[in-house]
Amino acid sequence: MKALTVVPGTAGSARLDDVAEPPAEDGPVLVETLAVGVCGTDHEILAGNYGWAPPGRERLVLGHESLGRVVDAPADAGLATGDLVVGIVRRPDPVPCANCAVGEWDFCRNGRYTERGIKEHDGYCSERYRIDPSFAVKVDASLGVLGVLLEPASVVAKAWEQVERIGGRAHFAPKTAVVTGAGPIGLLAALMGMQRGIDVHVIDRVTSGPKPDLVHALGATYHTGAIEDAVDAPDVVIECTGVDSLVFDALDHVGPGGVVCLTGVSSGGRQITVDGGTLNRTMVLENEAVAGSVNANRRHYEAAAAGLAAADHDWLARLVSRRVPLENWHQALEPEDDDVKVVIEVQAP
Ligand code: BGC
Repeated sequence: MKALTVVPGTAGSARLDDVAEPPAEDGPVLVETLAVGVCGTDHEILAGNYGWAPPGRERLVLGHESLGRVVDAPADAGLATGDLVVGIVRRPDPVPCANCAVGEWDFCRNGRYTERGIKEHDGYCSERYRIDPSFAVKVDASLGVLGVLLEPASVVAKAWEQVERIGGRAHFAPKTAVVTGAGPIGLLAALMGMQRGIDVHVIDRVTSGPKPDLVHALGATYHTGAIEDAVDAPDVVIECTGVDSLVFDALDHVGPGGVVCLTGVSSGGRQITVDGGTLNRTMVLENEAVAGSVNANRRHYEAAAAGLAAADHDWLARLVSRRVPLENWHQALEPEDDDVKVVIEVQAP
């Protein structure tokens, strides 16, 4: 079968390969892949800066944001032929650590987890894949190809859960939230903030293209300046860019008792100057909290599936700004102006 593969650590090594049918050890459910989303992590892998091949192999099948249709499932799988499913990305470590042991692999403590399409386990950008039903999440049939947004939405659902759990250390009824970055993660974070009845402000650099309008269409407010110019003392900041100066801006300007959740993965090596003493003093005197958040467990996928099902499907459709057939995969991997989420169509729906 055809699969998009890459040699992790080697830039420009992506190619459309013929690979073996999916191995039985991946699980008893056979899924035909419909679509795979491309995200920043994929670009990092393609640039040779991230990603690990399965042990003993040179190439990794790419793709961790997926949508597929069940072809064959055992009677007790809770899935039927034709169901639309999304594969969970992470698998628990083999020890397992205390968190993986209770299904919270997104908090794996020993780093020995694997991730499909990213770390030591083939991804979903192949014509078919196999999966254990416990790692396949059903999506509302009405979403169709938009179900491919479930994985990035799961990362955001986890971030909002972290905010609410941390905020819940005292009375917490957030009224305003800032989201930095209007890429797919930022836009989905804004959607979930609006679904919570919060006044959401999204900050990005662009002044044209689809992003400002997508923010307005949600009923949120779009800004291009600094956090302090957008809203005074927000209760929540969800940082979705990984840009170091914005991270410290968020810590500086979150309101008393507020929570900053960091979701962007930055590349290191740059230095900025920070007044650590003042930052510490404010964070202490105002009980502010900051948390990093990565990946998602099954609970977050299910929350995200409910969030996407309840969202305006026309708005979600505008997030998927480009759909490229698998045979033209290189076009999908070339960023274009006005891209929001680019999706590789592996098979016609
Ligand atoms: C994926 C996560 C993954 C993270 C780190 C992100 O792009 O959405 O599932 O844990 O990369 O590998």
